[in-house]
Amino acid sequence: MRDVFRIFFSTGWRQQVLILIVLLTSGIVEVVGIATLWPIIGIIGGEGMPNDHIIDDYIRWALEAVGLPLTIEVLLGVILGAAILSFAFGTAGSVFVGRSVANFGTGIRLQLIDALVRARWSYFVAQPVARFTAAMNSDAERASVAFKSAGMCLVALTQAAVLMVMAIFVSWPFFLGAVAIATVLWLAVGRYMRMAKKAGRGKSKHNLALLHSVTDALTNVKALKAMNRHTFIGHTFAVHIDRLRRATQAETYSTSAMRAIQEPLFISLLLGGLYIGHTFLGMDLRVMLGSTLLLKRIADAIGSVRANYQRVALDRISYWQLQNLLAEIRANREALISGNLPPLPADITLANVSFSYPGKQVMQHANLTMDAGRLTTVIGPSGAGKTTIADMVAGLHAPTEGTITVGSTPIDQLDMAAWRRQLGYIPQDSILFNDTILNNVSLGDPRIQESEVREALVAADAWGFVSKLPGGLNFSIGVRGSLLSGGQRQRLAIARALVGQPRLLILDEATSALDQKTAQEIAKSAQALTGSRTILAITHQALWVDAADAVYEIRDGKVTMAAPALSGSA
Ligand SMILES: Nc1ncnc2c1ncn2[C@@H]1O[C@H](COP(=O)(O)OP(=O)(O)O)[C@@H](O)[C@H]1O
Ligand SMILES: [Mg+2]
Repeated sequence: MRDVFRIFFSTGWRQQVLILIVLLTSGIVEVVGIATLWPIIGIIGGEGMPNDHIIDDYIRWALEAVGLPLTIEVLLGVILGAAILSFAFGTAGSVFVGRSVANFGTGIRLQLIDALVRARWSYFVAQPVARFTAAMNSDAERASVAFKSAGMCLVALTQAAVLMVMAIFVSWPFFLGAVAIATVLWLAVGRYMRMAKKAGRGKSKHNLALLHSVTDALTNVKALKAMNRHTFIGHTFAVHIDRLRRATQAETYSTSAMRAIQEPLFISLLLGGLYIGHTFLGMDLRVMLGSTLLLKRIADAIGSVRANYQRVALDRISYWQLQNLLAEIRANREALISGNLPPLPADITLANVSFSYPGKQVMQHANLTMDAGRLTTVIGPSGAGKTTIADMVAGLHAPTEGTITVGSTPIDQLDMAAWRRQLGYIPQDSILFNDTILNNVSLGDPRIQESEVREALVAADAWGFVSKLPGGLNFSIGVRGSLLSGGQRQRLAIARALVGQPRLLILDEATSALDQKTAQEIAKSAQALTGSRTILAITHQALWVDAADAVYEIRDGKVTMAAPALSGSA
């Protein structure tokens, strides 16, 4: 039950307390309506206005206080008024709950996205993507359900409490009977409640596992299909799907069982109570009818507490996983200092730099200088650590030892945000969006003019093919750019990096997918771009060695100057 409170009040006290007060008022008004039925039953039963029960006294007192006569018309009017008021408060409460649930669902997603984009890169790359997509979709959805159910559970709980208070006024034995009935109804479903909690955990776990495998498989499906191994994909999912099926089954079973057990149990307890009341306590028909009505409402309220509590039990795991994930991502927030930024382009120097990933040494005591306004090429076999160098220069990874300086500023004292705005980075595996050429190059940045996009495309040697496409800049390139060739996609990626007029351009295997002639043309255009910008080309292609002002080779963790600088071409 503690979870119910913690989840519901996690978004702040004030609004949630207001919701509970509104719904509590609705419950109290309803009780007034039920209490007013009490004397009416007596009047209709031909006993006249009865005064043998404490509730009659209360009603007489209340009507006198507001100066209304005690007639059946007035009593019926009170019941009608109470019903309308209770409905109005109840509806207002539901609207508030709905709004608070919607705010919770969007709020938690926005917080996640915000935390994610601010996280350290080294934390980010170590996480499976499915972890975040699952959090954003199913977990956020289920956490919203848990949040809503927690609210409804508390509402039903306050309602039950109000009705119980009324039961005290009816009579002590009656109150004790109601407590006994509520307890038995609650305990009877304990087994199913535990089942629901377990099913909730299982669902969450296997859903994530399934998402992991599906994401992995679908991103690799081309190779699998080409080798006719795609039919095996299903096997890796089958286990998770089966476990998911079992958890869902347990969830459905526990829900239906709880509902099914409730009704006959309530009827038997009620019949027993009526028998005892009639035979041993000498209760009259009126009190019995009124009590039955009240008991039914108490049972309904308890049933609602139970159903919503079960929903919380099923989905709370998602709520807590989300909270933990959010806390974890926030703890890994990248510390961006507002240091300084030297005039660019400036020499970039790696001095005595070592770097390791967790459990893997990539380079030791590397020395390397990228002269300002020149083209530096880094070659080396795959896996040697070329991309790692680029990532360190971009401030995505910090060296484990040694220093990187831009001009004379150590990289950890740079205004990192400003530094990165001066970078054009073309990663090894550029992701293009299912959008127009224009938006793929500008990345939706409204400050970038169409003319700048065109210039970048020209510089990336892409304008030739773009201008021939139907719609030109507004041509939509398909999912991950599937309507373009590999070379065309890569040229778009280069244009995307060039459009911000970067002072340092990093090309990570940028021409690997292009034919020799086009690659040479791009290398030549790159040479033309030096002077006002520094270029770092990471590649295994010889043509970039020819185009470079300085060449370094990285191999077995060592960086060596591979060839003397060619004639300065800036
Ligand atoms: N995030 C990472 N965690 C652990 N090891 C990594 C990570 N990224 C790369 N590596 C390893 O570090 C080495 C250097 O990687 P990388 O710089 O990408 O090589 P290159 O670009 O020269 O092919 C490789 O052996 C690779 O397996
Ligand atoms: Mg690489």
